[in-house]
Amino acid sequence: MAREKVILAYSGGLDTSVAVKWIKETYNMDVITYTCDLGQERDLAGIKEKALKTGAVEAIVEDVRNMFVDYFVWPSLMTGCMYEGKYPLATALGRPLIAWRMTEIAKEHGAHAVAHGCTGKGNDQVRFDVSFQTLAPRLKIIAPVREWRWTRTEEIEYAEKHGIKVEATKKSIYSTDVNLWGRSVEAGVLEDPWLPPPADAYQWTVAPEDAPNQSVEIEIEFEQGRPIALNGEKMDGVALIEYINKVGGEHGVGRIDHVENRLVGIKSREVYEAPAAVILHLAHRELENLTLSRQSMRFKTYVAQTVSDIIYDGLWYSSFHQDLMGFVEKNQRYVSGHVRVKLFKGAATVTGMKSEHSLYNKDLATYEEGDQFPHDTAIGFIRIHGLAQQTQARQQLLKGEPTVRPARIVPPSE
Ligand code: ARG
Repeated sequence: MAREKVILAYSGGLDTSVAVKWIKETYNMDVITYTCDLGQERDLAGIKEKALKTGAVEAIVEDVRNMFVDYFVWPSLMTGCMYEGKYPLATALGRPLIAWRMTEIAKEHGAHAVAHGCTGKGNDQVRFDVSFQTLAPRLKIIAPVREWRWTRTEEIEYAEKHGIKVEATKKSIYSTDVNLWGRSVEAGVLEDPWLPPPADAYQWTVAPEDAPNQSVEIEIEFEQGRPIALNGEKMDGVALIEYINKVGGEHGVGRIDHVENRLVGIKSREVYEAPAAVILHLAHRELENLTLSRQSMRFKTYVAQTVSDIIYDGLWYSSFHQDLMGFVEKNQRYVSGHVRVKLFKGAATVTGMKSEHSLYNKDLATYEEGDQFPHDTAIGFIRIHGLAQQTQARQQLLKGEPTVRPARIVPPSE
């Protein structure tokens, strides 16, 4: 009988390399590794070679950057997704795409299982497992790192026993995850929120104080909420994000330091570098200020927060997510136009914007000649607007002091 197959999400690092051997030994399965390019600037050919050398029967590598941008990054930008107002969700956006591709590949290869190298403490295991369970409920899920529960030393011993190269000198003191939308950095000295992140936690951005004394301006064009051009030049999403990451990083823009609430009930200190995400969210939000109504913007804030939680919590493939995206798609139909952003010493500032769908009407707003605002009508408007409050004041507020009791939730002890 043919051996069962498992598709393993493979980064080329120590955990997933050891996992190749460990799954073979423990589950007696053939391991097919899956590595995808989400813009993490890694040597993919080298990773493929390492997977095969470590014992994989097949090593699949594919470039999914365009898919990542079009179906995951842009929709989250259009929605305005910033988890807890700070984290643009780079890692969280990558997981459902990887999981979806793995289930597709599992089907093509007749695999029985899928596997990932997440620990039992983070959000990523949740995102993988829930996506697998949703998209391919029949697949068994193997999570070696969660299952073996070794210390680092035990893991290295196992690796050395099986001839897996441990690059101890290059061993990162941080746990990182990288894609086009940002770099996530955790663990090591970052675990003390009192300490500022050391310089070596950052790789994409310079410290704002070391940024050039000369500012730079970039101009982004949006069409229905999606960025389509940079400095007047039409550009595909991957190139546009790469460019903004680079220029933003050079000017020290995009550093985020966040004590965040993980889904699994712990707070953790995370550092992110996400110049493009920070700059594009800012520009997009300002363009919305110009093109969306007040009510629409208020409501969208709530949608953005809800969708951020959905993505963070690994519920990408829920129908509720789909429903809310229906709103966002429609809501963005007039969010087209140009935004100019200045980058200077760690700060991104919008210095200009225009849109053919702009709701800003100079004839109504101006204090100069040509003012069209109906001033006389304001008096009647204000009377009606304040009517309820006026009634309330007459009947209650102005009728002498009511007895005021302090609000407390625990009665005072006598
Ligand atoms: N805290 C972030 C999240 O949950 C980043 C996780 C980074 N993952 C990692 N393996 N270092 O989305």
